[in-house]
Amino acid sequence: MKIEMRHFPIHLLMVSAFTASAFKVVPSFSSHLSITSLFAAPKEALKDIVIPNIFEFASATSHENEDSRIWVPQTDCLSFRPLCLCVSQGYYVNLLKFKGGGVLGRHRHSSPVHALTLKGGWGYKEHSWHADPGTYVFEPPGETHTLIVDDDCDEMITLFHVTGTLVYENEQGVVTGYDDVFTKLEKAKKWYKACGLGEEFVQQFVR
Ligand SMILES: [Fe+2]
Repeated sequence: MKIEMRHFPIHLLMVSAFTASAFKVVPSFSSHLSITSLFAAPKEALKDIVIPNIFEFASATSHENEDSRIWVPQTDCLSFRPLCLCVSQGYYVNLLKFKGGGVLGRHRHSSPVHALTLKGGWGYKEHSWHADPGTYVFEPPGETHTLIVDDDCDEMITLFHVTGTLVYENEQGVVTGYDDVFTKLEKAKKWYKACGLGEEFVQQFVR
């Protein structure tokens, strides 16, 4: 029986064409091709990071299971838990935790920030909005602000994805310091070495 193409529905012709091209075997690479290779990461790809327990702070009892040393002290009231320290692209993802009220000094962002509030409440001195659990915030490049955690807040935890650099400045606008993925990495290495987890502990979060 001869099947003429003009009698085929157009969508079946498109599927047939896609299927044929997707699995077309190029002679010089045929020995490496398989259906599974379409779904696996190339060998040059960076290793994924999988952290299953970042919400362990959610219940009172779970704190007992969490090794508190994973939190890197940054100031008296502020610590962070690294999730991804991406030195290859200049950003980091971390959980920022305040114990009680507090302030993170005024700073300017060179690049965008994404924030998802998980616990407690906070805001910026320069903005009228207030972040509560579940609040997502996008901070555009050039944003300058002073992070303030509510005085009556027992604990604030927010996931921050920070690209580029935070440049700290005083009230006169004079630059006093900076943070980026590399300073966060150094803080983490120093702390993990001091607390007994070992300097290399941080490497599982570095890409
Ligand atoms: Fe900020």
